[in-house]
Amino acid sequence: MVKLVTLTIDGIKVQVPAAATILAAAGKARVPIPHLCYMGGINEVNACKVCVVEIAGRKHLVSACTEKVAEGMEVLVSSPRALAARRTMVQLLLSQHECDCAECSRNGSCQLQKLAADLGIGELPYRKKIVGRPWDPAFPLQRDEKKCIKCFRCVNVCAKVQTMKVWQVQKSGALTTVGVADGLNIAQAPCTLCGQCISQCPAGALSERDDVGKLETALAEKKRVLALAPPAFRSLAADFFALKKEAVTAPLVAALVKKTGIPSVTEGSEAASRFVEAEAALLAENLKKEDAAPLFSSACPVFTRFLRFKYPALKKYLSPTPSPLFFFGEEAKKGEAKNIFTLALAPCLGKKGEADEAPCAGENERPIDAVLTPQEAERFLKSFSLRAEECEAELLSKKTEGSTDPAGNSLVVPILTALYEKVTGQKLPAEKLQTFSSAPGRKDYVLELDGRTLRTCAVVGQKNAVKLLDDIQSGKAKYAYVEVMNCPALCQSAPQS
Ligand code: SF4
Ligand code: SF4
Ligand code: FES
Repeated sequence: MVKLVTLTIDGIKVQVPAAATILAAAGKARVPIPHLCYMGGINEVNACKVCVVEIAGRKHLVSACTEKVAEGMEVLVSSPRALAARRTMVQLLLSQHECDCAECSRNGSCQLQKLAADLGIGELPYRKKIVGRPWDPAFPLQRDEKKCIKCFRCVNVCAKVQTMKVWQVQKSGALTTVGVADGLNIAQAPCTLCGQCISQCPAGALSERDDVGKLETALAEKKRVLALAPPAFRSLAADFFALKKEAVTAPLVAALVKKTGIPSVTEGSEAASRFVEAEAALLAENLKKEDAAPLFSSACPVFTRFLRFKYPALKKYLSPTPSPLFFFGEEAKKGEAKNIFTLALAPCLGKKGEADEAPCAGENERPIDAVLTPQEAERFLKSFSLRAEECEAELLSKKTEGSTDPAGNSLVVPILTALYEKVTGQKLPAEKLQTFSSAPGRKDYVLELDGRTLRTCAVVGQKNAVKLLDDIQSGKAKYAYVEVMNCPALCQSAPQS
């Protein structure tokens, strides 16, 4: 049986397991304790000391994120001593952080900025000591060392959650810093561009490369901007404008984006169809082989990078079909490519990497000129003071109908449907396709086709992808087609702190 202890937190009585930390107990008592570096089970390094609290009868303050509870403990979160110490800790962090908040992409969503404001930090009593090494400005992931507060969240989320170990704690003592492991340049490092370290950085030291300027230049030069806003972008737009997800339709997204001067917005169904057709054709070819290798979908760029870095032996099974992003760009640039600017409003950082690496088609034109991540898209759209309600009213007045279907990500069913039609010349009867969950985050699709059984699957989440790849490598699982979406929940989720 779990041993429980009873303690008070700012006078509120709470009972928790004896192994709990003060921070966990405070959570149960609903007493907020500010914290920056702590991420449960991922980053418990006691680095920032922002969570200091006083314990009645004890001489020294303690960190609530690591100190365990005890029977009868009286915790004082906001005593004058605890508050003064917390202010000092934040002032010390600010003394090593370049506070260019107005120019920072995290302005308004920065945890350090909020904490400093909440604690009423004014002038800093400490001399600022800010150092920073140069960074490759072309890489999709940007790091500004001058803002790093050495909380190590990036180091541990990358190593423990994403299993990539891109970052490393370097030097020691007052010189301790974070850099790319093994002295590599970030472009040489095994970064999958999953973006999780950016989401977890509490100080704006990590960010996505800002491509809003490229779009603004194109608009100023009167280029014809053709935008791809995939179905996943609908729920992002709902968040930006605080709308209900089911209220945001494709026409509403298009109407909002067009208010910025972008004349053409598509969800990319044609590009997706071309992708589906190409994948179905490859699968049809594979059917002719006795023991065909699995085919890995190239639709998720984070997964393709992950496979490249972590499972080089399986890399050869990656589908040669470029992703729907490429098909959109290629189609859009047919004709006068010079005057066309292709834009993708993408749900993730990985798409920036994908666009950067896409082969040039004629006259050095890349298929996609700019990819805006949700953060950039939000900044861009909000700079126009758009009001979603106006667009909604306008759409209603024109009786425009829009789908409110939840934006599904997987293309496995459309690919199998196209394959069936290609091979048999007939529509796919429902009973020929069985679906079931075969492992956490893994859905199997089994197709009865011309007397053969074709087993395929769609996997969501990197942890589940690792299990699948290990099963494939060990021979435990055999699939004809595999689709992995590296990030769960429409490519937007991040580990919670
Ligand atoms: S880059 Fe951000 S997450 Fe990483 S150690 Fe610095 S402040 Fe923390
Ligand atoms: S983007 Fe992902 S893989 Fe790259 S450094 Fe950050 S957490 Fe690691
Ligand atoms: S949150 Fe407790 S030391 Fe940083």
